Amino acid sequence: MGNTIPFGTTPQGRQVELLTLDNGQISCRILTLGATLQALEVPDGQGRKVDVVLGYDTLTEYLENDGYLGAVVGRYANRIAAGRFSLNGRDYTLAVNNGPNHLHGGLVGYSHRVWQVAELTDTQAVLTLDSPDGEEGYPGHVQVQVTYALSGTSLTIHYQAVTDADTPCNLTNHAYFNLSGHDSGNTMDQELQLRAESYTPTDETSIPLGTVEPVEGTPMDFRALTPLGERIDAPFLQLQLGNGYDHNYVVQGDTGTLRPCATALSRRSGIVMEVETTSPGVQLYTANFVPQGRKGKGGCAYGPRHAFCLETQFFPDSPNQPAFPDALLRPGKPFDHTTRFTFSTLQ
Ligand code: GAL
Repeated sequence: MGNTIPFGTTPQGRQVELLTLDNGQISCRILTLGATLQALEVPDGQGRKVDVVLGYDTLTEYLENDGYLGAVVGRYANRIAAGRFSLNGRDYTLAVNNGPNHLHGGLVGYSHRVWQVAELTDTQAVLTLDSPDGEEGYPGHVQVQVTYALSGTSLTIHYQAVTDADTPCNLTNHAYFNLSGHDSGNTMDQELQLRAESYTPTDETSIPLGTVEPVEGTPMDFRALTPLGERIDAPFLQLQLGNGYDHNYVVQGDTGTLRPCATALSRRSGIVMEVETTSPGVQLYTANFVPQGRKGKGGCAYGPRHAFCLETQFFPDSPNQPAFPDALLRPGKPFDHTTRFTFSTLQ
């Protein structure tokens, strides 16, 4: 059971596999490099299958291009200011790989490691990763397990991790969604609703200021379904800093409970995506840094704003932000978070 084909060999000689899951309604492909969601096919309003995530056809492109397309990122998703934090009276220094900051786990984060396949059926893949003590500067030996599962028209991603010493831990998937089809260009006509009353504004290096601000009365407000592009170029400092949306929103409701987070849709394809999560936050990122003309699957060209990411997460820089939800993983208290993407079509 379960379909696996070789996808290439890393410069270190590790073979990477491409796994296919298919339940007859939706299907997806997952790379063992970065436990990456390489493709996700869902029916459009006409019943045709549309691949709604950006990706590449070759291993070399995954290794050489930044952007983390579809990857599971960790040990700590998003940024840690200056790559520094203190924990239990000790100072830790991490790789600085994004301006002055640490981003998505460092130089060789989980997105760039080859994961093991622990279990594979037609509808479920369990991938595991061993993250040694000291990897990229983080304390503690962490064992990670990510499960992709298809059920009906839903893709569920379940993140689990255990540690033998206290460590910051924040796991997410960095899928770039384009609900008109991965190769269909600009997504600014696609509509988004976020179940968030507030967000965490950042400085010019995308590090949270430490405050939680209401979205009301600002172009950050997605409480009602709104086209992504409607206010993206508004003269609003937070949007100008990131060249678009690149912000953590505070998801309403209780962390640990699977609850509605976002709805997105394309009126062109008729595809609707509902996102539910147990995580406290979600990063809305409008692919601002994807270079114009970046070659994607099937030879198509990607560019800025050709996708949007909804990275369910703990808030960026939590290890340095005492007021944010606690993103510390401790021995005996596993990391256990779930995000579910459910697809339907407009009536
Ligand atoms: C996002 C992050 C962006 C950018 C992107 C990868 O999670 O918020 O600022 O770094 O990843 O290109």
